[in-house]
Amino acid sequence: MATTVASQSVKVNIGCGLSGVPGWYNLDNSPTIALSRLPFGPRLFKTPPWPPDVRRHDVTKGLPFASGSVAYIYSSHTFEHFTYEQSLALAEECFRVLQPGGILRVVVPDLKLIVRSYLHDESAMASHNFLQRLCLNRGIRDLLHPGANHSQMFDNRSLCHLLQAAGFSRPAVCQFRGSAIPEIERIEGEERRSESLYVEALK
Ligand SMILES: C[S@@+](CC[C@H](N)C(=O)[O-])C[C@H]1O[C@@H](n2cnc3c(N)ncnc32)[C@H](O)[C@@H]1O
Repeated sequence: MATTVASQSVKVNIGCGLSGVPGWYNLDNSPTIALSRLPFGPRLFKTPPWPPDVRRHDVTKGLPFASGSVAYIYSSHTFEHFTYEQSLALAEECFRVLQPGGILRVVVPDLKLIVRSYLHDESAMASHNFLQRLCLNRGIRDLLHPGANHSQMFDNRSLCHLLQAAGFSRPAVCQFRGSAIPEIERIEGEERRSESLYVEALK
């Protein structure tokens, strides 16, 4: 992958899923990306419709960008798929590749909202609904696709603490689409709004 693009324009979307955005480096590690690009792959393997500009890359192995070369990093519902150590290493990588004044925005399922909804759930299945939502069970799917289930959950304190530990001085909780990233509405979808915690940090 090129690492010499003009630094002010480089935008990276970590764990983009199927929502790769034009103009961003959309990184995802799903094995179905490779299958979907084989001749007849989508029909043979019934792969999801991966946009052509999604690049397969395992971000636990680092970010393929030069230090100080990236302006914006966005990651939605991906950091919770890593162990704490992996997420810290990834946040440190984000700090490394961002230029001074660059911005990291991390969106995760908000543990506080999930706990609140459990406490208000009067149904007999409340405890099961709660555990299902946490999605912490590891299984065969994780061997095929590391990251299929969650490995940890964050609230505002633990996510800000993680980013601080990685070097960011003042991570802050933000509103949906309340961001210093230009045209945030192109990448931040409405569909995650009700369940998400948004934290942004400046390098
Ligand atoms: C829950 S999806 C989120 C997709 C999208 N960002 C969203 O908010 O809807 C998590 C994504 O992270 C990707 N992922 C998991 N582990 C990864 C890794 N090590 N490197 C890159 N992507 C990874 C998965 O393939 C999956 O597409």
